[in-house]
Amino acid sequence: MTSTQKELFDRLERFYDAVPRDVAHTEEFGGLVLFVRDGAGWPFYARPRLDATESPSAADVADVRQRQRELGLPEVFEWVHENHPDLLAVARSAGLAVLEAPLMVLDRDALLPADRLASLPVRILDPTAPGFAADIAARRAVAAVGFAAPGTAVGGAGPAARDTALIELPLDALDEERNRTISGHRVSALVETPAEGAVASGMALRVDDVAEIAGIATLPSARRRGLGAAVTAALARQLLDDGTDLVFLSAGSEEIARVYLRVGFRRIGTACIAEPTPVRG
Ligand SMILES: CC(C)(COP(=O)(O)OP(=O)(O)OC[C@H]1O[C@@H](n2cnc3c(N)ncnc32)[C@H](O)[C@@H]1OP(=O)(O)O)[C@@H](O)C(=O)NCCC(=O)NCCS
Repeated sequence: MTSTQKELFDRLERFYDAVPRDVAHTEEFGGLVLFVRDGAGWPFYARPRLDATESPSAADVADVRQRQRELGLPEVFEWVHENHPDLLAVARSAGLAVLEAPLMVLDRDALLPADRLASLPVRILDPTAPGFAADIAARRAVAAVGFAAPGTAVGGAGPAARDTALIELPLDALDEERNRTISGHRVSALVETPAEGAVASGMALRVDDVAEIAGIATLPSARRRGLGAAVTAALARQLLDDGTDLVFLSAGSEEIARVYLRVGFRRIGTACIAEPTPVRG
């Protein structure tokens, strides 16, 4: 690894370590740190400790899993393979299934404008607009329906399934979305059509000058029209315009990585997600 690559991987490692800390406390087990969310919301995972001098051991993994079970948390581990190459074998020998997701970084000179990728406009959500709560609910409902149909194929689930998945956000979750958006730590995007409403969505998490794009989803009925690529491109453009220097994402599979490649992302490594049962992708 060159020193430039090392610096890039170090920045990603610091980002992953920083993201949950605003809303979670930590428990350390040898070379691993478990993030435990304070309050309601999507549970976090365990990762290698930022300041660990040795790679996490099988015993560390076993200790974390026991604690995750005690706390009722999913037994999920995440790490960047290039930063912790030994952990793959350790996780597998513990019986965990590991998703090896292409880890991709934006080549800003290669970023295509969203309107070159799809004919529909992408809307970046405004946290001060009166419709923000409804927009966030739509973003989440599109993601719920999109991720329930993994892969990139067109399918039957469309606006009706999205409307069934719509839930009113609890006030604290909405406040978190609004405050994080106002402070520049989160960016959300939606694509809507007059006839169908919201059909594609995505978001980005930002810490200082590094941001991860995540949760890109298109309703199965609206796939293969360039919308997933356009949402990704619009988020990346917004992040760059806001002063973000490093924009990255991990793709759920090689076929999904092709979508991001078209936008202007380039593969630099592998993000690993380990769980007891076969993982999403
Ligand atoms: C991955 C996902 C977001 C892609 O959304 P999408 O809107 O279909 O994405 P795009 O239309 O930009 O690209 C998909 C394919 O359609 C093709 N396409 C784009 N515009 C097209 C058009 N006008 N006509 C025909 N095909 C088109 C693309 O070339 C791409 O083809 P490929 O699979 O051969 O590379 C969507 O499939 C999804 O929600 N999957 C489940 C959730 C998920 O895994 N999200 C990603 C997590 S990393």
